Amino acid sequence: MAKSDWYKEMAVYQIWPRSFCDGNGDGIGDLWGVLEKLDYIKSLNVDAIWFSPLFPSPNADYGYDISDYMDIHPDYGNLEVFRQVLDGAHARGMRVFMDLVVNHTSDEHRWFVESRKSKDNPYHDYYFWRKGRLTRRGRRLPPNNWSSIFEGGAWEYDAKLDEYYLHVFAKKQPDLNMANPRVRDEVKNILRFWLDMGVDGFREDVITFIAKDEGLPNSYPVLPVANGVNHYANRPKAHEYLKEFKREVLDFYDCFTVGESPMTSPEVALSYIAEGENKVLDEMIAFSHMEADCFMLDMIQLPFNLVKMKKAFSEWQYKLHGKAWNALYIENHDHPRIISRYGSEEYRTESGKMLAAMYILQRGTPFVYQGQEIGMLNINLPELGMYKDVMAENNIDIATRFLPRSTAMKLLARSSRDNARTPFQWDDSRNAGFTTGTPWFFVNENYREINAAQQEEDPNSLLNFYRAILKFRKESPVAIWGDYKEYFPKDKNFYVYERSYEGKRLLVICSFTRKALRFDAPEGFDLGAGRLVFANYESNFFIMNGFTSRPYEMRVYLFE
Ligand code: GLC
Ligand code: CA
Repeated sequence: MAKSDWYKEMAVYQIWPRSFCDGNGDGIGDLWGVLEKLDYIKSLNVDAIWFSPLFPSPNADYGYDISDYMDIHPDYGNLEVFRQVLDGAHARGMRVFMDLVVNHTSDEHRWFVESRKSKDNPYHDYYFWRKGRLTRRGRRLPPNNWSSIFEGGAWEYDAKLDEYYLHVFAKKQPDLNMANPRVRDEVKNILRFWLDMGVDGFREDVITFIAKDEGLPNSYPVLPVANGVNHYANRPKAHEYLKEFKREVLDFYDCFTVGESPMTSPEVALSYIAEGENKVLDEMIAFSHMEADCFMLDMIQLPFNLVKMKKAFSEWQYKLHGKAWNALYIENHDHPRIISRYGSEEYRTESGKMLAAMYILQRGTPFVYQGQEIGMLNINLPELGMYKDVMAENNIDIATRFLPRSTAMKLLARSSRDNARTPFQWDDSRNAGFTTGTPWFFVNENYREINAAQQEEDPNSLLNFYRAILKFRKESPVAIWGDYKEYFPKDKNFYVYERSYEGKRLLVICSFTRKALRFDAPEGFDLGAGRLVFANYESNFFIMNGFTSRPYEMRVYLFE
């Protein structure tokens, strides 16, 4: 069945439901809150909403540990109110995507509860249950040397069964055995359930991890985190499974899929998303551009390196060109706030606008994460006990092996995912207007200055900038379809690129420094002949085809 290209023209808004808007006053964001805010979301000029998991979950990993795939968490509402949200979004011309988390379930999912009852239970083989190894002295060891990404070793012992189960993430997130055809049938049923209800697609959680190497071999050399990842990231069987989902289910619907793909190069990404008969997903969520101030994990921090960031963006732009489409993002629920990282809290609005233009005008589908559009910042929690994320404790355990605790705590404050999970700042009333009750998590104290209501009033706010640039992109073929070309890739302060399409050209100029520096337009551009379509300062004269930059200055010129 032929599929249209609507997903290439759209922009997506991501909702992390627990912190978006509380509609019933219990302190937890929910779907009643989302219903109230549908007009707000539409006003951003996005075309779709992606919901982080809304399903029943004990919240060991805030929804990414699902205990029932075909229902709504009572904290968030029920299927009835979900249908209202779905209809309300559709009535406003917005699509709705769900989060498909099938690398693992919750240990409280019925399948897992059954699977641990006995070795001959029909669900036993839904998971990776294995015998341990014994040392020569008779000490019990886990089946292999893999470590989990969230909590120590990747295996948890069950005394009753005398077997271990595999969990690549938290202990409460046992990995599903996708090699079992019955598990794949369950996944297909989940997909059909939501698609038949009218949902328009899925963001697929760590989908590149769903196939594990046969025999689950030991991994060498041994890494302190995620040891074993070579045996479960991007294994050939992952494509096979995804092909099966596509052939048997997705191809029967006009739907969209974007796969989360940690540790994946553009070359490997193409094996999933390149146009042609082997295409199994529409887009991938890349990671390399999010690693310009850290090493692999946000916790291992380095000074921000613009050249590294540009290289990552450009590599994906060039390598996918003409072959595949791309997801564009700079924030989500897994990373600290971008202004606090790549921009400047001091020049919050200026750097926020610059960062928005920097990624939204590239080739791909822009994703905007709740709060990004008003420039929410990191909360920087001072004490371990204040964190909610399961990763926090694990990261401190690992970091304190090498560093003093106070240093480790500083790194955590800057890098924790909890920075992105504080309640949305709607206005300057109590609890930032997020709830009339007691919020489930700390509201950032800066809500009196940073909130949506205040920015509604201000034509120059970041919020109104997001609206304008998303509208511009939607209406400009050059911004959607144009070829990408980077200038001055080695420059340590400016990110400059061009988009070109049918004789039109866009020149995007972004300064990543507060320093005043001379910028000279690249050859072939006469700034006087261009129309300035976006800028983050008021007056924008230029001299001799260039200018002296102000802090985090951004200018976008259109040549037609
Ligand atoms: C993905 C999710 C993240 C979650 C992890 C395990 O990376 O985005 O939030 O913790 O998968 O499900
Ligand atoms: Ca609520």
